[in-house]
Amino acid sequence: MTQPKQRLGVNIDHVATVRNARGSAWPDPLRAALLAEAAGADGITAHLREDRRHIRDADMEALRAGLGIPLNFECAATDEMAAIALRLKPHAVCLVPEKREERTTEGGLDVAGDANRLTHFIAPLRDAGCRVSMFIGHDARQIEASARIGAAVVELHTGHYSDLHAEGRFAEAEAELSALRIGAAFAHSLGLEVHAGHGLTFDNVAPIAAIPEVRELNIGHFLIGEAIFEGLGSAIEEMRRRMDLARAG
Ligand code: PXP
Repeated sequence: MTQPKQRLGVNIDHVATVRNARGSAWPDPLRAALLAEAAGADGITAHLREDRRHIRDADMEALRAGLGIPLNFECAATDEMAAIALRLKPHAVCLVPEKREERTTEGGLDVAGDANRLTHFIAPLRDAGCRVSMFIGHDARQIEASARIGAAVVELHTGHYSDLHAEGRFAEAEAELSALRIGAAFAHSLGLEVHAGHGLTFDNVAPIAAIPEVRELNIGHFLIGEAIFEGLGSAIEEMRRRMDLARAG
């Protein structure tokens, strides 16, 4: 049976990573976000990290002002980020754990262990009209705690599944997939909207996309990397054309 269309949220953090490597204004994350919108993305995700290693405050402002599709503001549950989120009032706020030394978001949020604080943390965000999402593992305790504290959404962390798949450990990836399926069904049964993301690629996305309760996928690093291969050839051809034109006269 055909399922309702799943939303695709495109994470544009790593456009900012490339820009910041040069300390210039190029490439612009908003331009990438608008391209994603034109290509059919249903939303844009951007993670304002405490250390501002990729997305910066001005990027969040520009995305909020310039996008026609929903903005999903990903951040740690800190007072600084709450103040920014309450000022910007994005469509969604996805809370993630954040460690300075990590390369990317490594694990899920411990909602069960921090339930009291998170209940108070998300209340003003909900009052401001943001859909609050918890980025968690598939563990039933974390799912149940997310429902209890009043989150609207859980985003299930697919990073472990993706790593196992990439390492060719397919039996373990299959077991992780089963746990994600069970987690998605449980979350849905509690009234939570279910999203998923992290590490998804052309090769590993299908079984996650097929989980009936998963309404949205958030995908970033692979898409930005793939765009190099899809776009480098035409960028070089255009540069060649301009160089040749400059010398033709
Ligand atoms: N969802 C969340 C909550 C994330 O933290 C990230 C990474 O920033 C993603 C999705 C996208 O992961 P990836 O860049 O590996 O596709």
